[in-house]
Amino acid sequence: MSSVDIPREAWATRIGFIFAAVGSAVGLGNIWRFPFQVGQEGGAAFLVIYLVFIVAVGFPAMLVEFVVGRYTERNPVGALRELGSGAWQYVGWIFIATGFVILSYYSVVAGWTIRYTILGLQDGYLADAGEAEAQFVTLASGLDAIVLHAIFMAAVILIVGMGIQRGIELAVKVLVPAIIVITVGLAIYAATLEGAGDAYAYYLSPEWSVIAENWTSILPAAAGQAFFTLSLGMGVMITYASYLGENRNLAEDGAIVIGLDTAIAFVTGLIVFPILFTAGVDPADPGAGAIFVSLAAAFGDLTFGWLIGAVFFATVAIAALSSAISLMEVVVSYAIDERNLDRMTAAALIGGGMFLLGIPSAYDLVLLDLFDLFADQILLVLGGLLLMILVGWSLSSLAIDELGRGIGDLGSYGTAWIWAVRIPVVLVLFVALVLGVLDYAE
Ligand code: PFF
Ligand code: NA
Repeated sequence: MSSVDIPREAWATRIGFIFAAVGSAVGLGNIWRFPFQVGQEGGAAFLVIYLVFIVAVGFPAMLVEFVVGRYTERNPVGALRELGSGAWQYVGWIFIATGFVILSYYSVVAGWTIRYTILGLQDGYLADAGEAEAQFVTLASGLDAIVLHAIFMAAVILIVGMGIQRGIELAVKVLVPAIIVITVGLAIYAATLEGAGDAYAYYLSPEWSVIAENWTSILPAAAGQAFFTLSLGMGVMITYASYLGENRNLAEDGAIVIGLDTAIAFVTGLIVFPILFTAGVDPADPGAGAIFVSLAAAFGDLTFGWLIGAVFFATVAIAALSSAISLMEVVVSYAIDERNLDRMTAAALIGGGMFLLGIPSAYDLVLLDLFDLFADQILLVLGGLLLMILVGWSLSSLAIDELGRGIGDLGSYGTAWIWAVRIPVVLVLFVALVLGVLDYAE
């Protein structure tokens, strides 16, 4: 039977869509990537730029993806084929490629979080920074890493293979509340630590001179992080909105998703920095492994650190799972819509391919960093930029009508939104792309 005969799947409940979008947004980007970017890019000054980008760039861009998905009721490749002419038709392919690249290494990192949960339960965190680093290098690459990468990918395949309502929606209704409750709990614990005061000062009082000195790296990093953390630029929100079917206020939904993602990232800083400061670990340690090395060392130093650490890393694993689901769903929805594959077969084939692509990252941390940089600073930004140009400049009245479905007459808000997409969003993404390419070429 071809998929044309089966009615398109849809979310069962309003909250199901919101949880799925929040589950996608809240992930390693918030808990692993965000604190190390803050540390690497100069603390609170980076945080401020990041927040500006979230509101001024992320919010309008998310609404663009929502309307494209709801309007076309298609996967990103099909959606762009329907909306674009000429070369624009192929923009959807960038999203598919990005999904493959990101999930390949995202799953490797997620595997580390499982390993570090187990390590906590074994009381295995090492307080000495040098030893913690050596331990990380052993655990993060090689056979251990590949096995956990495989286990994580298998879990993603199973959930996505079960379908929108019985797989994804059910999973996020459990995972997302768990993430929120545990994160808040850990932040309260962290507030009781000795180093909390110094940590808050570092995290919350910007040194503006840092921006003037390092804007060429802060700007692309903050724009890339804003896109990455909100799951923008690779068709996730297009895909999830394509299962909506009903008229609802997408601006409200977008605000909820962005508010929760930003809150979780912010609160994670309130967990990570007090722990690091209390254990005397430098938050500016660069690189993808930083959080594992420095946090694990800090956990090794704290009373009951093993338990707090296990809870922390388990939460990260859960958050990674609900994001990974969305990454895979983009490609799976394409395979179902356009290739007439059944869902479980599509998930298994695609997940298998992503697993293979991730093997180099599981062997060599340098490669993982390169994949991450390439996906985040180039692919996501490129796909996002092209989509924003297309919708902002040549589909604006269609987009405004579609956003108004479920809200009513947008009045001047509609125009304001489109102009935000046309100029500031496009400009920021363009500059970020150029700087990102230069940075990558170095
Ligand atoms: N938003 C996720 C995070 O912050 O971890 C990562 C992500 C998921 C990026 C899905 C892109 C994406 F399409
Ligand atoms: Na995020």
